[in-house]
Amino acid sequence: MILVTGGAGFIGANFVLDWVAASAEPVLNLDALTYAGNLESLGSLAGNPRHRFVQGDIADRPLLDRLMAEHRPRAVVHFAAESHVDRSIHGPGAFIKTNVEGTFTLLEATRAHWAQLPATEKAAFRFHHVSTDEVYGSLGPGDPAFTEAHPFEPNSPYSASKAASDHLVRAWHHTYGLPVVTTNCSNNYGPYHFPEKLIPLMIVNALAGKPLPVYGDGQQVRDWLYVKDHCSAIREVLARGRVGETYNVGGWNEKPNIEIVQTVCALLDEMRPSAAGPHARLITFVADRPGHDRRYAIDARKIERELGWKPAETFETGIRKTVRWYLDNADWVAHVQSGAYRDWVATQYSERASA
Ligand SMILES: NC(=O)c1ccc[n+]([C@@H]2O[C@H](COP(=O)([O-])OP(=O)(O)OC[C@H]3O[C@@H](n4cnc5c(N)ncnc54)[C@H](O)[C@@H]3O)[C@@H](O)[C@H]2O)c1
Repeated sequence: MILVTGGAGFIGANFVLDWVAASAEPVLNLDALTYAGNLESLGSLAGNPRHRFVQGDIADRPLLDRLMAEHRPRAVVHFAAESHVDRSIHGPGAFIKTNVEGTFTLLEATRAHWAQLPATEKAAFRFHHVSTDEVYGSLGPGDPAFTEAHPFEPNSPYSASKAASDHLVRAWHHTYGLPVVTTNCSNNYGPYHFPEKLIPLMIVNALAGKPLPVYGDGQQVRDWLYVKDHCSAIREVLARGRVGETYNVGGWNEKPNIEIVQTVCALLDEMRPSAAGPHARLITFVADRPGHDRRYAIDARKIERELGWKPAETFETGIRKTVRWYLDNADWVAHVQSGAYRDWVATQYSERASA
């Protein structure tokens, strides 16, 4: 089986759903269920024997030791993190605790488990660290996209904590021989995205007729990848990536934030027109985020060259699916917004969750 951390979050939940759909191998899903963890995203797996959920913290070493001994995972796929840049500005402590200390504890528990495996299982074992392009810092308008050799120049508490975790993972390979792989991915979008992040926030606010807050001049450029494509890249790297290597993952979709918002508005005008007029009337420019990086761009040629991975979705197809999903899953959104998903968790999962 594989141990997934953070599998009730946005990308982790998509990964677990895809994994269970495509593979017979069971998943042990360890997630602390912070505000960002939502077991309702995994509702379709309730009762499925190939998915076992455990509510717990990656910084809890006794729990990790017990889970490793009981389930003997052949791989760890590590998503669990504090992930929202704005929250990291207001409260960086939680980011250091989970992203740095939590990753350290998980690495140590994994190392202890891995060290006592028989030689063949030891060689086949993988620790897959899921990271971000934000560790590389910010690019100027004409700079080439980030390659894996780009220096780390993180600018926010979030990206600094992720960069620190990437360094720990690298060191655990070089010092102890732990078989690690790391992926650094650009901005994801798609189903089950918590509506504090740009795309779901814009969809949800536009549908409610609320202002669509755009930071600064809206010209911050990001590369966007449909979440299912990120999940397929992780599966490829986990299966065939070279040990000790990092792989950039991106969608070749560089777009300024304002264009993203305009695209969402245009799709909503088509799929759910408002009597009050075009949704773009709601766009409101607000004060920029401190230290806001201007541009990220990912050079994803290494993963394509070595593993043949390419995204299946273009931005146009992926964003259309995403807007459709939010329109079709109003209950999921409403439960997240009201906090009702926590009650749902309590009723649906309390018996299966073990601490
Ligand atoms: N969202 C993106 O665009 C993006 C892009 C590249 C990389 N990443 C990385 O991918 C990973 C997942 O991102 P996401 O957007 O799904 O994040 P998310 O915030 O939606 O989910 C994080 C999950 O981790 C859990 N968690 C938090 N602290 C924990 C702890 N101490 N112990 C156990 N579980 C804990 C939360 O409950 C939540 O379910 C992160 O490591 C992030 O840095 C995200």
